[in-house]
Amino acid sequence: MEPLLRELRIEVNKRCNFACDHCYTDKKGKISSLSTLLGIVGQCAKSGVTDLSLTGGEPLQDLDRTLALIRAGAELGLRVRLNTNGWYADAECLSSLKAAGLHEIQVSMSHSDATEFDRFVRRKGAFARACEAVRQATNMNLKTTVRCTLMNDNIEQIANIYDLVADLGAHSMKIRAIVEVNGVRDAAASIAASVRVRSIEKLKDRVKQRRVPVALADGGEFSLDAASDIERLACKCGDVAVFVTAEGIITPCPFLRENEDFWCGDIHSQSIESAVSSARYRAFVGHREATSDCGNDAGCACKATLVEQLKPSANQGPRHKRLVERA
Ligand SMILES: C[S@@+](CC[C@H](N)C(=O)[O-])C[C@H]1O[C@@H](n2cnc3c(N)ncnc32)[C@H](O)[C@@H]1O
Ligand code: SF4
Ligand code: SF4
Repeated sequence: MEPLLRELRIEVNKRCNFACDHCYTDKKGKISSLSTLLGIVGQCAKSGVTDLSLTGGEPLQDLDRTLALIRAGAELGLRVRLNTNGWYADAECLSSLKAAGLHEIQVSMSHSDATEFDRFVRRKGAFARACEAVRQATNMNLKTTVRCTLMNDNIEQIANIYDLVADLGAHSMKIRAIVEVNGVRDAAASIAASVRVRSIEKLKDRVKQRRVPVALADGGEFSLDAASDIERLACKCGDVAVFVTAEGIITPCPFLRENEDFWCGDIHSQSIESAVSSARYRAFVGHREATSDCGNDAGCACKATLVEQLKPSANQGPRHKRLVERA
């Protein structure tokens, strides 16, 4: 395996108790067996991977499965992170995650107003439970990050969301602009530049006062100057991190997986190592390194690359054609 690859990202399950407006994941269909997933965690640890990132669906809805993966990763010396909506993360659940060896919990919160939050995820009481999860996790000294997806309807609230994150005691905040894939639509692309800049300026002011670290995945749209207190997150897909979908497809990027041309293998028939060394995967990484633009015109703001060498497949969709035309 290439020495730079250091993170394995696994979709633990598909099901979820929320129905967020912006969510790009598929909620239906088969998922890989736990033993297959444990096998790839072992393979990756041997090949020099240092980080395991668990996502879903809602991973805590399948707590035993999630705990088994955390335990396996931690025993192999991996830093294990978990993305969750926080609903099931009560004190007992958090203690079991910590005991299993979880290194960091990342709770998703994209609104600071309870009514807005609950409406957005379509679950009453969701805001209160997410807040409590963050509070409890920090109280038990579990590294806690709040993940926020930036959209048309929350960009002007971003400084308030940051204040909430700081009030709850979280250790850091990660912000990523919405990606319009798998039928997700948002008016984010049409947000006026002046609104983007003003909102981020407000956020910068808050960060100066509250000092909770913030990282933002963007492509320059938010005009972060070099002296900004906000870290800019680069896309890690392909060279640093590999993604495994709930079905077991190996692909560099979670957002590009609707396109079969980005499928580089299947954990049921292939090792991660062989998928990562495949011509298709290497082409993605090579092109991304050369151009630093993935050509994803679906709103992903961290701008990586599209594989120029990819040939259109039999089942290409309209979006694929657009991507190939741009490459
Ligand atoms: C798919 S969720 C799965 C884990 C868990 N259910 C949660 O919400 O954290 C992981 C992260 O992806 C983000 N996300 C979902 N749809 C997105 C989209 N279209 N663009 C960018 N991020 C998205 C969510 O906000 C969440 O922070
Ligand atoms: S909680 Fe996570 S997986 Fe569930 S719908 Fe929301 S973003 Fe998607
Ligand atoms: S920049 Fe491209 S490769 Fe990176 S996360 Fe966005 S869509 Fe994926």
